Amino acid sequence: MTNSSSVQPLTVSFFRSVLKGKISVPGDKSISHRALMFSALAIGESHITGLLEGEDVMQTAQAMQAMGANPKRIAPGEWRVIGQGIGQLKEPQDVLNMGNSGTSARLLSGILSSHGFFSVMTGDGSLRKRPMARVTTPLSETGAKFLTREGGRLPMAIVGTAKAHPVGYRLPVASAQVKSAILLAGLNADGITWVEEPVATRDHTENMLRHFGVDVRIEDLVDGGKKISLKGPVTLKARNIRVPGDPSSATFMLVAAAMISGSEICIEGVGLNPLRTGAFEVLKWMGADLCIENEHVEGGEPIGDLVIKGSNLKGVDVPADCAPSMIDEYPILSVAAAYADGVTRFRGLEELRVKESDRFTSIVDMLRGNGVQVDIDGDDLIITGTRGNIPGGGVVATHMDHRLAMSASILGLVAQKGIKVDDIRFIRTSFPNYFPLMNQLGAKFDV
Ligand code: S3P
Repeated sequence: MTNSSSVQPLTVSFFRSVLKGKISVPGDKSISHRALMFSALAIGESHITGLLEGEDVMQTAQAMQAMGANPKRIAPGEWRVIGQGIGQLKEPQDVLNMGNSGTSARLLSGILSSHGFFSVMTGDGSLRKRPMARVTTPLSETGAKFLTREGGRLPMAIVGTAKAHPVGYRLPVASAQVKSAILLAGLNADGITWVEEPVATRDHTENMLRHFGVDVRIEDLVDGGKKISLKGPVTLKARNIRVPGDPSSATFMLVAAAMISGSEICIEGVGLNPLRTGAFEVLKWMGADLCIENEHVEGGEPIGDLVIKGSNLKGVDVPADCAPSMIDEYPILSVAAAYADGVTRFRGLEELRVKESDRFTSIVDMLRGNGVQVDIDGDDLIITGTRGNIPGGGVVATHMDHRLAMSASILGLVAQKGIKVDDIRFIRTSFPNYFPLMNQLGAKFDV
């Protein structure tokens, strides 16, 4: 497991060749977590294909196992889950360890709040620094009790309630995890649970609950936000779920190919939910030669193949309201910005400070440590592009953050003096075959 293995540094040299070929990236992390959780809450046996088998999702599988659902792997990416029914999970006998996974911790908190038993949750050194009050504050309205370390951090004890009150809450920050936690608590609450979000965030919970037969209502608010509601208690019916390729994972390859002139790659079967694809739009604004082929809908989610060719990238100004649709992509887009011609301004990045690391600071340190000029204006990052001449030569500290590690590895490919990455272990939380796939495209990572 992530905690016990020793640090794995990586040296990356300037890459003098091109990336070519056709690949598929592993299943979407957000959808994979939800597939396991919702199947465990359904009546009957659900069948999942394309499940991401990264450590984060495996933490969710273990937690569902500890509570009596029985997720079984029958082939790579193919799982069967015997659902227990809403409110029917069993008290876990031991501490639930969520590893590095904020999505597991936050969504499960919602489920646990409306189950009438006691549980304790912890995580690794990164997760134990992340704020949980954003979920425990609204979830306390159910009648559940949460006891956390100071500052609302894990470990956390939860006394759930079988007689949960429905929560009504307007999100103070745009967060799909908080929205989902509240909706999941509402599945076993008596009455209407609602959440208002000021800016639309990823809607995989809403889509998948509907797929499992739940009547989820979504209204547009006059201020541009959304109100999502459901009436509990509900029954979820077991379903088949096909998980699309993860657009966040695909973006690492897309940026690498966009920067390296002469490259041309195709990534097949990627999820194209419009609330996830902000980074693709920004890459196009930057001048990337990116197009989508074979677009179709599967299991309520749009899917397609992404084809990208190397091209000259230019700096852009990205407004704050784009952030929810590309929140996980700023580390790798900041590498594209550093390589581009001109200045890029990413606006409104306050939420980056509470990810697997303080990504705001991690990005600044990664780029400045490799000779790129980065300025900070409040929550905005201003990156002065190098026109393809990133000096490099630095060591990137990844702070237990998978996306920082992958971004740094790509930075190394295009940095004149290469770079060193302090620790690549955490990449397996979300993208276990990242290096083999990059090498399949022609990169020569020595791992
Ligand atoms: C996720 C939501 C986002 C994202 C995370 C996955 C989800 O977090 O950063 O990687 O699956 O709901 P926030 O809800 O905290 O923005």
